[in-house]
Amino acid sequence: AYEKIWLVFAILLILLLLGSVTYGAVGPGVAMVADSEDQINANALDEDDRFAEPRVERVGENHYEAYVVAFQFGFQPDPIVVPENSTVTFQVTSRDVIHGFEVVGTNANTMVVPGEVSELTVEVGEPQEYGILCNEYCGAGHHVMEGKLHVV
Ligand code: CUA
Repeated sequence: AYEKIWLVFAILLILLLLGSVTYGAVGPGVAMVADSEDQINANALDEDDRFAEPRVERVGENHYEAYVVAFQFGFQPDPIVVPENSTVTFQVTSRDVIHGFEVVGTNANTMVVPGEVSELTVEVGEPQEYGILCNEYCGAGHHVMEGKLHVV
């Protein structure tokens, strides 16, 4: 009788092992499906009015919205031009891979994900030129990926 119990136990172990191997193999497959969904979202974003034409828009007194698209390897528009002493809300998306968006010298710093919109707001003062950097590794040209914010 004990032999049968051990046999069942051994078979259960084998099934468990097979189960975990199968799960491991399916895992990456699921990730690839997610990637193609991201691609679809990114395409949908191209048709998003806000990003069809990357630009700066006045949305209130001293309040501007900048619709920015990050790509390998730059930002659009470049430069981003806003008037002095204003509030600027950046809405940033990517049309290819994950990038970063950092306005050097301010606390504006975010990750930019394809199919998603990152939003951040900064107050700008005197006319000045800021550098914009990508701080997520995004490919061979990552180190040259930069833009400009001109406060005029
Ligand atoms: Cu884009 Cu690094």
